[in-house]
Amino acid sequence: MNISQQNQIESTLVHLFNDSKYDMLKAMKGMAKSAFRPVQPADLKNVYLSISKEQGEDLVALIKNNNIQNIVEFGTSFGISALYLALGALQTKGSIITTELIESKAEKAIENFKLAGVNELIEVRVGNALETLKDHNYPIDLLLLDGWKDLYLPLFQMLEHTYHKDTIIYVDNADMAQTQVFLKTISRNEKYKFESIFGGKAVLVTIK
Ligand SMILES: C[S@@+](CC[C@H](N)C(=O)[O-])C[C@H]1O[C@@H](n2cnc3c(N)ncnc32)[C@H](O)[C@@H]1O
Repeated sequence: MNISQQNQIESTLVHLFNDSKYDMLKAMKGMAKSAFRPVQPADLKNVYLSISKEQGEDLVALIKNNNIQNIVEFGTSFGISALYLALGALQTKGSIITTELIESKAEKAIENFKLAGVNELIEVRVGNALETLKDHNYPIDLLLLDGWKDLYLPLFQMLEHTYHKDTIIYVDNADMAQTQVFLKTISRNEKYKFESIFGGKAVLVTIK
């Protein structure tokens, strides 16, 4: 990765983080529509819900230190986390598959990847992750789970055959109530090790 490539990604991230400052307001507007039913992804179609800058930087280091190349992400949103994944992947000659249910979000993410000059590195699959990743047979080095929490378990299980001894599963929002069933279920499997990071906001799952 050359300096100008890195600058291009970082300046795109600055712009996206600035825009995401209004997330709370947009989220409230979206959720007002769902006063009498559970919140749906479409209610938050204008909201980033992104990982933090610190988490992003930590992901870059994780990718670099473990020479991670094949990266899969569940939950693209507008592409903030995928841009950090790209910053890491540029250093390891890796690539990213990311998947987003809401078409308008995926389109905006692709624009952002073009703006950052990393469009070639990131394949965006539009649709339900359980469908878009169902034929994925390629070994996954890093799986970032950051979509709707009720899908963590079925998605983790669906992709389990692609894990190898060095696979890392990065579970974001591990501290949310909806994530607990997933964590409890996989913690029963002795095959997996868990490391809590960012004060429990995320958990790294690795293979023993
Ligand atoms: C927490 S946000 C992702 C944030 C992003 N990883 C980042 O840090 O910039 C979760 C995203 O998952 C998407 N999502 C929800 N259910 C999904 C599904 N079944 N398949 C794919 N994407 C889904 C939502 O539309 C939302 O944009």
